[in-house]
Amino acid sequence: MAEAFNDLVLSADREARYAELATEIAAVLEGEPNLVARMATVASMLAASFDHFFWTGFYVVDPARPGELVVGPYQGTLGCLRIAFGRGVCGAAAATGETQLVADVHAFPGHIACDGRSRSEVVVPVFDPAGDLIAVLDVDSDRPAAFDAVDALWLARITGDIFSR
Ligand code: SME
Repeated sequence: MAEAFNDLVLSADREARYAELATEIAAVLEGEPNLVARMATVASMLAASFDHFFWTGFYVVDPARPGELVVGPYQGTLGCLRIAFGRGVCGAAAATGETQLVADVHAFPGHIACDGRSRSEVVVPVFDPAGDLIAVLDVDSDRPAAFDAVDALWLARITGDIFSR
């Protein structure tokens, strides 16, 4: 009972922080059209805001190699350079266009272990204003089951506001 109440308080705190962050990121990026600058700023501001974010960044759709993601701006330890659509959690988000919420990466078929400390993750597809996939936002944690629907919803909302309008 006490644990459920604590979880509720913590998720309310997280929601409030995400809401502030959405406003702060939009203010910093006001008038800046460059995609690399926008992705780098989003990755930096997200990573600095939450203790449970171990690796935070973008894998972008590579126009030079159809069906592949290539690493973009990120904060964290060394990431893999390329991920094929359909491979691992990022590849699943790219292939389906749907957010992937993975409580235990070791149980996810084909998970790519760029850093063995990664235990759980959330990956959100990122679309341009025309609705085409341009990237995925990958957030990994070194804690198991670190993310829930609050993270999935707010990360989709923030990337939607910044990249899809
Ligand atoms: N976790 C990802 C791979 C990228 S990194 O961990 C930075 C995946 O399985 O899609």
